[in-house]
Amino acid sequence: MEHDDFAPLLARAHAHAGAFLDALPERFVGARAGREALLAALDRPLPGTGEDAAAVLDLLAAQAAEGTSACGAPRYFGFVIGGALPVALAADWLVSTWDQNAGIHAISPLAAATEEVAARWLLDLFDLPRESGVGFVTGCQMAHFTCLAAARHGVLARAGWDVETDGLNGAPRIHVVASEEAHVTLEVALRYLGLGTGALVRVETDGQGRMRVDRLREVLPTLPGRVIVCAQAGNVNTGAFDPLRGIGEVARAHGAWLHVDGAFGLWARASADAARRGLADGIEQADSWAADAHKWLNVPYDCGVAIVRDAGVHRAAMTATAAYLIPAGGQERDAVDWGPEFSRRARGIPVYAALRTLGRDGVAGLVDRCCARARQFAALLSAEPGVAILNDVVLNQVLVRFGDDDALTRAVVAGVQADGTCWASGTTWHGVAAMRISVSNWATSEDDVATSAAAMRRVFHRSRAQGAEGVADPGPLTSR
Ligand SMILES: Cc1ncc(COP(=O)(O)O)c(C=O)c1O
Repeated sequence: MEHDDFAPLLARAHAHAGAFLDALPERFVGARAGREALLAALDRPLPGTGEDAAAVLDLLAAQAAEGTSACGAPRYFGFVIGGALPVALAADWLVSTWDQNAGIHAISPLAAATEEVAARWLLDLFDLPRESGVGFVTGCQMAHFTCLAAARHGVLARAGWDVETDGLNGAPRIHVVASEEAHVTLEVALRYLGLGTGALVRVETDGQGRMRVDRLREVLPTLPGRVIVCAQAGNVNTGAFDPLRGIGEVARAHGAWLHVDGAFGLWARASADAARRGLADGIEQADSWAADAHKWLNVPYDCGVAIVRDAGVHRAAMTATAAYLIPAGGQERDAVDWGPEFSRRARGIPVYAALRTLGRDGVAGLVDRCCARARQFAALLSAEPGVAILNDVVLNQVLVRFGDDDALTRAVVAGVQADGTCWASGTTWHGVAAMRISVSNWATSEDDVATSAAAMRRVFHRSRAQGAEGVADPGPLTSR
């Protein structure tokens, strides 16, 4: 390899990327190729002698057309997956080109300064305490990990226990309170942190999946010692918000740490619509907040945000020091103080680029447009006899049930995925099968929603005409 190889290979990659992006809006939305087909094309014994780099790129690009889902396409409604804003993707390319280790300021002053500003802008946008610590992590999973590590530090320090030095052996017990509908990544974070899922005390939810404050009020006095309460802003199925003001008051009265999962819901704080912002009323009372930028800010994977009110506690839980490191010491920001990674890419740079390009109005427009499209989906689908919307569409999530029948609903989900006009995933909601639509992409237009709703109706009619016996039930579809 020579330095001169960069230009032709990057030009080739650019051409492949252009072709991929050009096809994105109209291509088959799901992935067509599975493991077998992809391995047939990709799997070889490790070559003894290296192969031509351009040919390797061509091979990967050819497989990308079939082996990827069109996650960035305007008719992709699966899970809660944001698209990528053009400027965020372009900035991400530069991040790869600059190849900075963004762990410490001494290596990358640019990454450190950019993330310092992006962190400040996010606190401003979300209207959270401006002195909070902010870490850019891979996603909401690691944002939970980071925030709950800070929570663990905070509640144990109050009990005179230094968890970073002494670990959890013999430590005072911590109870973690979360609703029955808390996202699974919260449990995973508890496992990583040595608290264990056994520390979880579940609180019942209401019909929309919101934590019941009356039940929380009863539960907290039964828990002696240190308590972390985890609330949710944006239920992964319904988009519903826990009653955060009430939860905050109860948690504070009990001296508990309050953490909020705002993977996508925290972005409601950026809405121009007062009622939508009001869904998150009281969220500012929390001690920590986890959110994703790769969801509703539409930066490419991967980027989550961990925010902790007490920056000192945040830093104490995360910081890494070693003799050979060059700690910033002054005003400069070392990313290792705010997240669990040591070496990492400068993932805050696309966040900076997106926020600066969109501005406050642009972020509000992105959020509010997606919510309007979700309501459009609900209106179009509920107008169809036999189709029911199961949730109050307060945000960007829509739960749809077909023919009030599990097998039929699952068959419609599978049929829609096979049809390729759009892509939506399935879930089981309060014991019944449902299709789950999440509108999280800047590019989704009214036409996209109309076209997708028409495809869903078409598949519903076809599946129903085939009759219950003819309907292939693909089995339970779980949510993520
Ligand atoms: C409410 C909620 N919390 C956490 C997560 C996990 O986020 P990530 O996949 O970025 O780790 C998700 C993902 O959809 C989510 O919807």
